[in-house]
Amino acid sequence: MAKKMISISTEPTKNFGELLEYANILRDSCDFLHCDVMDETFVGRDLLSLETIKKINAHTLIMLDVHLMTNDLKNKYVSFVEAGANILTIHYESFSSEKRLLKVIKQIHDNGALAGLSFKPETPLDKILQMVKFVDLVLIMSVKPGKSGQNFLSETYEKVEKLNAFRKNNGLKFFIEVDGGIVPEIAEKLFDRGVDIVVSGSYVYNSDDKKNACLTIKGEKN
Ligand code: DX5
Ligand code: ZN
Repeated sequence: MAKKMISISTEPTKNFGELLEYANILRDSCDFLHCDVMDETFVGRDLLSLETIKKINAHTLIMLDVHLMTNDLKNKYVSFVEAGANILTIHYESFSSEKRLLKVIKQIHDNGALAGLSFKPETPLDKILQMVKFVDLVLIMSVKPGKSGQNFLSETYEKVEKLNAFRKNNGLKFFIEVDGGIVPEIAEKLFDRGVDIVVSGSYVYNSDDKKNACLTIKGEKN
């Protein structure tokens, strides 16, 4: 059985001080800090700058799983790796061509980070299948990108099963991560279907015992 991992989303936190405190409380209970970066044109809202990622990296020891929900950032990808992203995930829809997308994946790799590829719920999985052999992680969005606290889209299960079968049948090794609307019962079903990492925003944030909430998602507590 593969390791079950949890990546804690920074999105629900209200300011930098709270974000740091949250990250430090959960340092030993989670596997990654999921830094949601957004821009107005891609999701209708700006959130978390490059400068903030640098500051997070300077003040925490957690591995940074950076999720870019932005339009093509042109020459800025390397800056995100230099800022401390251990995993840098980009969206399929952000790019004008697959050639450009592959170029950015190469830049991320050349600068020493893992590259992730995500796609919006309305983008068919088939569109990205030919690209998954180039990345280390595929992030399936189980809500519309933009904010935490939405309900999990149940069609995600089928996407996970299809992607897991594709990974197996083609001898590929990328991680499968799912983001949005995760609660423990959903996490359990996702891990059973081959998911490696689940993202948690509001479930862990709104729990009184946040460490315990992380362990519950990972199936390590009842
Ligand atoms: C959605 C973000 C998610 C979100 C998850 O745009 O990518 O990472 O914060 O939050 P929950 O778990 O509340 O859906
Ligand atoms: Zn995210």
